[in-house]
Amino acid sequence: MPLELVETIADLRSRVASRRPAGLVGLVPTMGALHEGHASLIRRARTECATVVVSIFVNPIQFDRPEDLERYPRSLDVDTDLCRSLGVDLVFAPTVAEMYPAALECRVEVGRLADHLCGRYRPGHFSGVATVVLKLFQIAQADRSYFGQKDGQQLAVVRRLVSDFNVPTTIVGVPTVREPDGLALSSRNQRLNPEERRLAPALFHALHGVQAAVAAGTTSVDDLKQLASRHIPADSRLRLEYFEIVDPVDLQPVARVTGPVVAAGALWVGTTRLIDNVMIGV
Ligand code: PAF
Repeated sequence: MPLELVETIADLRSRVASRRPAGLVGLVPTMGALHEGHASLIRRARTECATVVVSIFVNPIQFDRPEDLERYPRSLDVDTDLCRSLGVDLVFAPTVAEMYPAALECRVEVGRLADHLCGRYRPGHFSGVATVVLKLFQIAQADRSYFGQKDGQQLAVVRRLVSDFNVPTTIVGVPTVREPDGLALSSRNQRLNPEERRLAPALFHALHGVQAAVAAGTTSVDDLKQLASRHIPADSRLRLEYFEIVDPVDLQPVARVTGPVVAAGALWVGTTRLIDNVMIGV
């Protein structure tokens, strides 16, 4: 069946309902500017579900800086073509007025999971993500929902959202897709100029260096953080916003690596903020 582009909540609900007898419904929530990382989520959904829904919505309430919202790349036609080529059934691309017809009176509040990593530097971001994701779950009523491990804190928040609010969807975390030099794919990469693009894999090198150091026996997080910062070249265009090593479930910082942990960081490359993470010891 050809791809259907849907703009209203009522329309999406009725089209999903009419396809439900065919089998599982999978949802891939995105903000568009789709790349190979999104394609891997969609391919996974395609192999597991009879109906694949991709939502494309740049969610204003999760942006903590107005200029970031303004600069966020938008390319609905190209995105729809990619979805078509990947066999997506329904693209849900609502307007802001459709999703937020009135100012919200209720929002999802995220607790300790948002205290560290990106949450510390982006006030309200995870509340905005959790709120829109809960709305998308209610709208699409998908059996499975697919999220990238690159946004590791988001994935942890969404998993907890589903368990705290008894949402009947299974969360599937899909591994990060990387460029050959290690840079994690991100819609924000397209903002980098060639010189910034050359510098951008520094965060991956830091994460990789820490992974190797843990494998070689280093357990002190202070030592590991120092090692990570040595991987970031002294260049005025680079600024490491944070580099943390946390417990993979509650995302609280640890002092020593004695079991599975997540190493995660955010690096400013010029005016673009990039994030990445790796699991260690699993
Ligand atoms: O990861 C994203 O693209 C967004 O945070 C999401 C999950 C689509 C919510 O707006």
